[in-house]
Amino acid sequence: MQVVTTISEFRAIHHAFGHETTLGLVPTMGYLHEGHLALVQRARTENDRVAVSIFVNPTQFNANEDFNSYPRDQEHDLALLQRANVDVVFMPAVSEIYPEGFQTYVEVTGVSQGLEGERRPGHFRGVATVVTKLFNIIAPERAYFGQKDAQQVAVIKRMVSDLALAVEIVVVPTIRAEDGLALSSRNSYLTPDQRAAAPVLFRALEAAQQQYTMGVRDPELLRRTMLAVLNREPQAQVDYVSVANAATLVELNVPTDQALLLSLAVRIGKTRLIDNLILSTSKK
Ligand code: PAF
Repeated sequence: MQVVTTISEFRAIHHAFGHETTLGLVPTMGYLHEGHLALVQRARTENDRVAVSIFVNPTQFNANEDFNSYPRDQEHDLALLQRANVDVVFMPAVSEIYPEGFQTYVEVTGVSQGLEGERRPGHFRGVATVVTKLFNIIAPERAYFGQKDAQQVAVIKRMVSDLALAVEIVVVPTIRAEDGLALSSRNSYLTPDQRAAAPVLFRALEAAQQQYTMGVRDPELLRRTMLAVLNREPQAQVDYVSVANAATLVELNVPTDQALLLSLAVRIGKTRLIDNLILSTSKK
């Protein structure tokens, strides 16, 4: 496994792979877990070579967020990636991605605006910018993202389509702990007591899914079902629960037969967790 920190080193390696070689990219912010490894495994099966980027991207954190304290463990990450048979790891410094004088950003409107975008101003501008830059540096045939960040997936797909970027976006299902908690680097912030409370997010989604399976289509009823479950957990402070059109992410107020995105953001102590499920009649 080769580990490089500069754009020119990465390009030299890619050049040496040759034109016929397909390359899959798994973009990450490090502190890797089974969720990331599921992306790597999928990339491994679909490409000749696999690249992973590890870059805690400052532009997607706003002033109140946890950029400085975001968990980092380079040694552990590299050991996991070596074992997962990754070919090349790109770990740039902030100054490599955002050199002095940097002043170009990518902004996706529409799908960026509700949900996480509304609560985290500037977040998706930072994500879209760094992902575009990574696509330009790494030039992968395919890039792999987790369904856990449903809005991020929608934003990136929109951006790739709107800007005709030559990369296929592959979305991999959320990996969960046995008790249903979606794996996330931020779970490491939870105390044991908070960790025990955190599966309430998935239980809330499951309760709404069960209603949906029984024929409930009223978005307000589905939202109330999620809220009722969350409100029974004293450690859960609800940021939002949402029932949106899965394609447009527009919040729904009237029943529809189109696929739904159920999503929620909840604080457990100081840690903000998100999760989601897609519901569609074709799954029944
Ligand atoms: O999902 C993440 O870890 C990040 O948002 C990403 C896609 C690596 C961009 O920094």
